Amino acid sequence: MTENARPRVLSGVQPTGALHLGNWLGAIRNWVALQDSHDTFFCVVDLHAITVPHDPARLADDTLSTAALYLACGIDPDRATVFVQSHVSAHSELCWLLNCVTPLNWLERMVQYKEKAVKQGADVSTGLLDYPVLMAADILLYDADRVPVGEDQKQHLELARDIAQQRINARFGAKGADGEREAILRVPEPLILPEGARVMSLTDGRSKMSKSDPNEGSRITLLDPPDLIRKKIKRAKTDPVIGLEFGNPDRPEADNLLGLYALLSGRSREAAAAECASMGWGAFKPLLAEAAVEALGPLQERYAELRRDPATLQAVLDRGAEEAETVAQATLKRVRQALGFLPRS
Ligand code: AMP
Ligand code: TRP
Repeated sequence: MTENARPRVLSGVQPTGALHLGNWLGAIRNWVALQDSHDTFFCVVDLHAITVPHDPARLADDTLSTAALYLACGIDPDRATVFVQSHVSAHSELCWLLNCVTPLNWLERMVQYKEKAVKQGADVSTGLLDYPVLMAADILLYDADRVPVGEDQKQHLELARDIAQQRINARFGAKGADGEREAILRVPEPLILPEGARVMSLTDGRSKMSKSDPNEGSRITLLDPPDLIRKKIKRAKTDPVIGLEFGNPDRPEADNLLGLYALLSGRSREAAAAECASMGWGAFKPLLAEAAVEALGPLQERYAELRRDPATLQAVLDRGAEEAETVAQATLKRVRQALGFLPRS
């Protein structure tokens, strides 16, 4: 394994349902900032989207829509490699190789699996259990140094690190003269920025904003029109106390909405807290709604433009897949060799 010229970054979002403020503030917003200083790879993880029952009539369009949102949020395909996971078959192939060295009980411990499995009842797929191994393959294929995600993905990243370090490098790395094993896979670091890492539901400040919450009022999606944003914020859960504040464990809604206001208006947390310290909910909500409408407006315009020209978007993804494929195949080759497979002549 050679050193990366610039540190590498890989991340992805599933094309399931509309992306919301949590996806943007917790993940994609942080990707944008890394494009100048890092080699960045951003994929739409469509193979992950079929780990729960999905609608084949929608998968392709949801994939395009998610890619368009990446670009609308500020990902620049001239600086970053933007691609669709299923276009690079090395993801599925490395996943299989990693499956065979990953203990089943590591997967059974995953919190997200346990939560999602409960919702699926008797119909839990093998893919849902295997989801974190596919995610490890996504990351490890690109020798990623850092993986920008929201807080909920931390456990999956630790798993990817353990698979790379304990199950591949420590077992299959060639022994050097000093007796140390050579690394085959780079061990990635999570990159979780505290602000926005856990955006909570509008209807319950103690559970995270999620694509799968049946109540649409619980989240603001990046494509919600202004009136819908205003309506959702108007109906958001509050408490009887006057004045917004951070860090009061009895007031999770105040903490969450004040945090959103700071991020969406571009204010520091201190400035937002000072401005809203004695403000009632009736005055605060319209302020937050307008900050959200203003932050999302330009993004929505760029998105509409990109969707009007599907050929250009498709060309970006084709080019991205080609770039990604080259890097991914080189890693896959290293792993195949280390595991002792007969090469094709
Ligand atoms: P998903 O919607 O599960 O495909 O998540 C895509 C990315 O968004 C991941 O990096 C998640 O960690 C992040 N994310 C999802 N929900 C939230 C949330 N409520 N707050 C912050 N980040 C989130
Ligand atoms: N599991 C991630 C999520 O739901 C999505 C994902 C798949 C991902 N592969 C990845 C994120 C690789 C970062 C890197 O949020």
